[in-house]
Amino acid sequence: MKMMKTIIRQGTIVSPSEIYEADILIDGEKIACIGRNLESEGAKVIEARGKYVIPGGVDVHTHMDLLAGNSRAVDDFYDGTVAAACGGTTAIVDHMGFGPDGCNLHYQLNEYHHLADGKAVIDYGFHGTAQHVNQDILDELEGMMEDGVSSVKVYLTYDRRLNDGEALQVLKRMKKLGGVTAFHCENHEVVEYYRSMYREQGCTSPYYHAKSRPNLAEAEAVARILSLARLAGDAPVYIVHLSCKESLEAVLDARKKGQKNIFVETCTQYLTLTEERYMDKDGLKYVMSPPLRTREDCERLWEGLAAGDIQVVATDHCPFNYGIEKQLGRDDFTKCPNGAPGVEERMSVIFSEGVMKKRISLNRYVEALCTNPARIYGFYPEKGILQPGSDGDLVIIDPNKEYVLTHDRMHSAVDYTAYEGMKLKGQIELVMQRGSVVAEGNVFKGKRGAGRFCDVIHTDVLRLFVLFCSYSNA
Ligand code: URP
Ligand code: ZN
Ligand code: ZN
Repeated sequence: MKMMKTIIRQGTIVSPSEIYEADILIDGEKIACIGRNLESEGAKVIEARGKYVIPGGVDVHTHMDLLAGNSRAVDDFYDGTVAAACGGTTAIVDHMGFGPDGCNLHYQLNEYHHLADGKAVIDYGFHGTAQHVNQDILDELEGMMEDGVSSVKVYLTYDRRLNDGEALQVLKRMKKLGGVTAFHCENHEVVEYYRSMYREQGCTSPYYHAKSRPNLAEAEAVARILSLARLAGDAPVYIVHLSCKESLEAVLDARKKGQKNIFVETCTQYLTLTEERYMDKDGLKYVMSPPLRTREDCERLWEGLAAGDIQVVATDHCPFNYGIEKQLGRDDFTKCPNGAPGVEERMSVIFSEGVMKKRISLNRYVEALCTNPARIYGFYPEKGILQPGSDGDLVIIDPNKEYVLTHDRMHSAVDYTAYEGMKLKGQIELVMQRGSVVAEGNVFKGKRGAGRFCDVIHTDVLRLFVLFCSYSNA
């Protein structure tokens, strides 16, 4: 079959360190060449003058088809990745959910291959989930890596949390293997204490969801896990969905003391939405953990992102219908499934609220939403950067277009967007995945099942720690 060629003409190409005007020639699935006045016989030409051309977004925190208690996240790997593609994201790394009691890591990996293979429209990887620890699980981590899963997530809250001793064992083994351990940091006992207290007092509205998960319950857990990572010889540690200023201070303190290999993720919602939402009549839409915080927290996170203290902006996309699943929490916030959608909104909302409002530079935007996530989870340089040899994954953004974000524009199966009515500057015009157009003018143009499992080679993960020493020493 003849390979398709495309020239993206005269776009403004953005990387973490450069902004320059050039043409991009994509031959088949790969970028063949970047330069001026490129020509190639038979190539389709896409004009991009006056527009930004950035690498495809990489969202390393999604929960497609997640089974959480009795509720299932409403985006499966088809709907969720169609939404991602239309929103400018061309690769995800999904957090596998908890499996049955006592199951091993490969049990869930097999489950997730069943859920994603043949459905995903963009490329994808998985994070393992360590829901209990014993010698067999620790030994299995190496096999997971050989099977393309270079990271494992540990929860410090919820029913399948690990205790500190177990978390330490995972950190030590992952360090030896050259992988990353990701942590959901909240102090479980503190959260449980507040949840029961509020329930007993009859304080069951969504507002008390936020009140029961205070900033310091998160920051304490962040500081604790950083101490354990230090104890494990500066084991690579990745803090997921960091949401507040106290947690960021804990990270900066550890780095100041010389601790290396700390990677920090925040999410779109923690940068842009605040806890007042819980007082609205549809407050259940925002029940997620950690909860939304204050304007002051948002501003501190923007500063941290601008300074390079935060490496990644992800989404924690975990959609439940407001009209159905979220209503389980109508009389008691503790019954509401935790999570909110966001995979489709991330690239546009952060471009508008971050770049256009001058809170972060265009380079930082690309670094935190495309390049760093690809580096940390071993997809780089195939993904996360526009250079010869990389995958033809790219997004064209027109910075001069404005629109209002509304649910009827969205492709996710969920019945709301948390960003309803937000006025956005800058519009995604075209999205390509490995040389094929997957979205154009907000219309999905890809193919069911065209996404590939990204088999991460863990020697790449080892290499990135060298690349990231700069963060550790900042
Ligand atoms: O509320 C959230 N964040 N739900 C998804 C699971 C998790 O904790 O990441
Ligand atoms: Zn979490
Ligand atoms: Zn999550």
